[in-house]
Amino acid sequence: MNLKLFLDQAIQQALADAGASNSPAVIKYSQRPEFGHYQANGVMGAAKILGQKPRDLAATIIAALDLPAADKVEIAGPGFINIHLSAEFIANSLTKLRADTHLGVEPRPAETIVIDYSAPNLAKEMHIGHLRSTSIGDAAARVLEYQGHRVVRANHVGDWGAQFGSLLAYMDQLDAQGVALGSELKDLEKFYMAASSLFKSDPVFAARAREYVVRLQSGDERCRALWQQFINESINHCQAVYDRLNISLSRADIMAESAYNDALPVVLEELSQLGMIAESDGAKCVFLDEFTGKDGTPFPAIVQKSDGGYPYMASDIAAVRYRSQTLQVNRALYFVDARQRLHLAQLFAVARKANYIQPGQDFRHLPFGVILKEDGKPFKTRDGADVKLAGVIDEAISRAYDLVTSKNPELDITQREDIARVVGVGAIKYAELSKNRLTDYVFDWDTMLSFEGNTAPYLQYAYTRIRSVFRRAGIDASTLQGEILISEPLEMQLGLKLLQFSETIDAVTEDYQANLLCNYLYELAGLFMGFYEACPILKAEPQITASRLLLADLTARILQQGLQLLGIDTVEQM
Ligand code: ARG
Repeated sequence: MNLKLFLDQAIQQALADAGASNSPAVIKYSQRPEFGHYQANGVMGAAKILGQKPRDLAATIIAALDLPAADKVEIAGPGFINIHLSAEFIANSLTKLRADTHLGVEPRPAETIVIDYSAPNLAKEMHIGHLRSTSIGDAAARVLEYQGHRVVRANHVGDWGAQFGSLLAYMDQLDAQGVALGSELKDLEKFYMAASSLFKSDPVFAARAREYVVRLQSGDERCRALWQQFINESINHCQAVYDRLNISLSRADIMAESAYNDALPVVLEELSQLGMIAESDGAKCVFLDEFTGKDGTPFPAIVQKSDGGYPYMASDIAAVRYRSQTLQVNRALYFVDARQRLHLAQLFAVARKANYIQPGQDFRHLPFGVILKEDGKPFKTRDGADVKLAGVIDEAISRAYDLVTSKNPELDITQREDIARVVGVGAIKYAELSKNRLTDYVFDWDTMLSFEGNTAPYLQYAYTRIRSVFRRAGIDASTLQGEILISEPLEMQLGLKLLQFSETIDAVTEDYQANLLCNYLYELAGLFMGFYEACPILKAEPQITASRLLLADLTARILQQGLQLLGIDTVEQM
């Protein structure tokens, strides 16, 4: 049950019963779990629209309110309505929640949703910047799936275009020299650097590289074979990163730019038929009024370059067409760097004009900021190169290993290694997910690996503390009996928070903000810690012990499920 929705409906009903059904007023809720109650805070706005005094309207709503779940409803301040849910209602709801394997999250009417995320450029190794789209998009995929949607993960990797010219020319050159390509391609970054420095320094090589682009695009066999070898190697590298990062992408989710090659001339033809194509300096373009440059000159979306090649925009239009017409999506969510805002705005505008996107289909860019160093500068190595993601994962795990060793030196080495993997990877992903996705954020090892504050280690640790209660008492949580009783205020607050899991999940998908789930889990863990310190679990009356064990177990389940939706694992001890 979505508790917030339930209360909202009761208030709306009261408004209607009080004769204000035609009012456009909407009552909004703010959660005030620190008081153990909900507060309706839209009364003032509603009263203004209705021409009433806020406190009068609040009184009218309260008089008409039929809400057995509450044992007290009162007017507060200038016209807020405070709803105090009864302990009995909370206890009964928790008992139902316990029996629900889906933890109160009701399935939504299933929609088909494409999630376009990660999408690295295969010419190079994945770097730290890819952590954002990859973690945030993956969390969105998991949450939407949990809500019952049919999620299509789309990894729109960059595997086409001019940059492959030098790579292929360089491969061919090494091959002719008898160098084993397989081992050369183990370090893609080095390979890319070597090829591009040749491109810059050697005009003969540069000419050959350009030639390779044309050969690749015209389907030359030798070229295709080299390209395929390179792409395979690069995809292996990406998949290894995904596996280590616990990202739910597989090879089957790759829908590369090149996959749309055959559709490109078709798209161009369809756009021409619609009269949308204009020529500019030999390039085939779409000009839309809403896109102009700084000086007011029209800013084109280029569909075909003057040399006949198709740019990034073209394969993206073809991808929209495929997602819309073939996959028949209800929504397509693009988790792409904020710097591509203009590109995606143009893309969607062109696709709408061409009727590739139908009115009921929600195609959306979900932008995010960049990762900064502590000094506020973009995250690069000292010589200005990108920081490899694989190296970031190594460092996270090794730092987590030291941390675990200092905290719990008695654990044996393999155990510490397992914990370090889960904690290290959890820490870097959670650091991403817990920030508002729109803002830039500073990548800081010490903060993200701290056991205090809104971090993955803190949540993972809270989970292990609950599990250790059961371990110490020799109790198997799945055999727990009895019912949940709410007597202490701290139990009330914890119980209410547990009931808010469902509404939190719904809130996350309103604007795909995973940080709302992070905040929720952080608050939940905090409330649990408070409860744990103040309310003895094992040393209470048998009935109370049983109830507190149930509350503890439910907390552990929601922490674990919540983290899992963020793509973060838990361990039993640390
Ligand atoms: N490969 C692109 C890049 O590295 C990102 C692709 C995002 N998705 C899309 N459909 N354009 O910048």
